Amino acid sequence: MVNQLLQKLSKKINNKNKTFKQWPGLIQAYEKWLPINKNTPIITLQEGATPLIELESINKLIGKNVKVYAKYDGLNPTGSFKDRGMTMAISKAKENNCEAVICASTGNTSASAAAYAKRGNMRCYVLIPDGYVAQGKLAQALVYGAEILAIKGNFDKALKIVQEIAKNYPVTLVNSVNPYRLQGQKTAAFEIIDSLNEAPDWLCIPMGNAGNISAYWMGFNEYYKAGISKKLPKMMGFQAKGSAPLVLNKTIENPETIATAIRIGNPVNREKAIEVNKNSNGKFISVTDEEIINAYKLLGSKEGIFCEPASAASVAGLIKLKEYVVENSKIVCVLTGNGLKDPDCAIKNNDSIFKSGIDPSIEIVAKNMGF
Ligand code: F0G
Repeated sequence: MVNQLLQKLSKKINNKNKTFKQWPGLIQAYEKWLPINKNTPIITLQEGATPLIELESINKLIGKNVKVYAKYDGLNPTGSFKDRGMTMAISKAKENNCEAVICASTGNTSASAAAYAKRGNMRCYVLIPDGYVAQGKLAQALVYGAEILAIKGNFDKALKIVQEIAKNYPVTLVNSVNPYRLQGQKTAAFEIIDSLNEAPDWLCIPMGNAGNISAYWMGFNEYYKAGISKKLPKMMGFQAKGSAPLVLNKTIENPETIATAIRIGNPVNREKAIEVNKNSNGKFISVTDEEIINAYKLLGSKEGIFCEPASAASVAGLIKLKEYVVENSKIVCVLTGNGLKDPDCAIKNNDSIFKSGIDPSIEIVAKNMGF
């Protein structure tokens, strides 16, 4: 897929008599689709161009001759899809001479915001729910030099606070209410169509604040209107059962789930998500933590793909909706974040054999291997 994109891109760049030796990041790759101008400084870590991987075991599980693919966005530079939005949000913030950014986060936004802000030589403040951010994400924000404020409250509280702070102080908000975030994130839909030569029949995606599902829908629509895809997908949005405000159509005061990335009870993009559901003829359902973990283990042990629990909700939801899948469909499940983000979850939830305290002798090792 990267090759396909590179070919396209080199054509474009060749037209301008420039040669192009490596993927430049999504702003340059999709510049004509993005709100940038010649004064926009491009802050990039060469995000985007993530693989679309066919999932043989899920094909078999669903049957009906379907082809299921994972859009593995956990392979972005900071390990999540947030980088797509952040390259845009931070580049535009830089263009507007901003010196500091702020976000609330369940972990991935803060990691991404910190990385890109630092690359753009800006300060980065992050508000996180104390005790509910996976270790890998926290480690990233620390290493990237963010100024971290862990609050005694959940993500929804943190988001309310940063929205107020950004109104009253000279800091730019880089949560998905920042329109440039969704602009950057829509490029994932472009990449899927560039790979498949058409939109899939279903897009399966986890929802937290519902920014990403809105961004994908925007991207699919833009390519559709330009005639690059002849169809639009049904948007299948999944939430964790204990944090399912969009499924239950009400705010959840105390959201709970093992998938801390989507532990959100009051999604800020609620109205947009409702429109996406309606206009795409999609479905929003919830999946239990157990279903999420089963999909998570399946992806790891059968497909060699390590995603974080929130991401596995896309596959868990597809499995749950199996009976609605139409013969010969193409389905893309978005794997939003990398499994390394949440090592605690991985260590607690696997069926692998782990024997410790083994004597370092050939015989004993061989015996333990079952020989
Ligand atoms: N998957 C992962 C891995 C996430 O980190 C998030 C959101 C989502 C899915 C949901 O995306 O909010 O656009 O519907 N994470 C945010 C954060 C809230 O702070 O990192 P959404």
